[in-house]
Amino acid sequence: MSHVLVTGGAGYIGSIAAFQLLEAGHDVTIFDDLSTGHLESIDSRARFVEASLLDISKLRGAMSGCDSVMHFGGKSLVGESVAKPELYMQINVEGSRNVLDAMKSEGVSRIVFSSSAATYGEPSAAPISEDYEALPTNPYGVTKLRVDELLSERATVDGFAATSLRYFNVAGALNTGSKWLGEFHNPETHLIPKVLQATVSNPLKVFGNDWPTPDGTCIRDYVHVVDLIEAHITALGQLVNPGHCIINLGSGSGYSVQEVISAAEKILGRSIPTEIDSRRAGDPAVLVASIEKAQKELNWSPTRSLESMIQDSHKAAR
Ligand code: UFG
Repeated sequence: MSHVLVTGGAGYIGSIAAFQLLEAGHDVTIFDDLSTGHLESIDSRARFVEASLLDISKLRGAMSGCDSVMHFGGKSLVGESVAKPELYMQINVEGSRNVLDAMKSEGVSRIVFSSSAATYGEPSAAPISEDYEALPTNPYGVTKLRVDELLSERATVDGFAATSLRYFNVAGALNTGSKWLGEFHNPETHLIPKVLQATVSNPLKVFGNDWPTPDGTCIRDYVHVVDLIEAHITALGQLVNPGHCIINLGSGSGYSVQEVISAAEKILGRSIPTEIDSRRAGDPAVLVASIEKAQKELNWSPTRSLESMIQDSHKAAR
């Protein structure tokens, strides 16, 4: 069993990782400044350190007794990253450098990092494999790519065993038995929660219906957060030898915005009010993962459907 430092463990994906790790018998220390995370999402079985990734001494203190890291902490909104690139460089890149420095000084060498498909930019190919050239089109994607590069360097220089998991569109929620852990962002920008929140007076804005796709709306690859975390736990368990590996996590198939809306209408048994808006800057038409590497290296395939992601997000909604 491991003792895992989970940065961003009060956030959407990090809190579900912390829960799953605890359920699997691991010890967990959560490191989060609660800037976007929620105190009520923190599992009482975990040790909690409330601090920023920019506070290296708190990071070192939190690392003591841990043997590995799952690093989810950071800023994650593409639009905000365009408005505040320096903030994203500071928290995501400098913060991650601090995590790696604290690992080195505390003798911790195993890390799973929360990377993103945003590193690929606007690809002309689908599905995208990990050897596709990374050409991010926004500061958020740049910061995730920088950290992937940093991990490669540290694997060589410091002997770290590291895996970057590049997420496509994460959705869904987890029922712990006593509560739901889900996506409680403010502001919310992601499609599935926005679809569920849509009302006649506040309809879902569909960002373009003139894309070069069969129904004219963008296609994305949605993966259930519980499947995603299962891949993390496997990846962590496999980190033995120094080196850095990049693996996509998605479902390997795509759904259009219109297909997501139709699926939600069936599940909710009502129509979702929508209005067509202009294209959102920086959106690629199609973003679908090749998950062959995850299948081969992690023996992982997602098992939860788009319908279960929508259903779980609906049940978790506050
Ligand atoms: N969309 C709408 N209306 C909305 C919200 C989204 O039409 O109100 C559309 C978007 O244009 C896009 C799709 O729904 O075509 C999905 O949008 P999301 O904002 O849910 O997700 P993204 O694909 O933009 O972003 C996701 C992750 C990012 C990551 C990116 C990788 O949320 O963190 O994939 O490119 F960077």
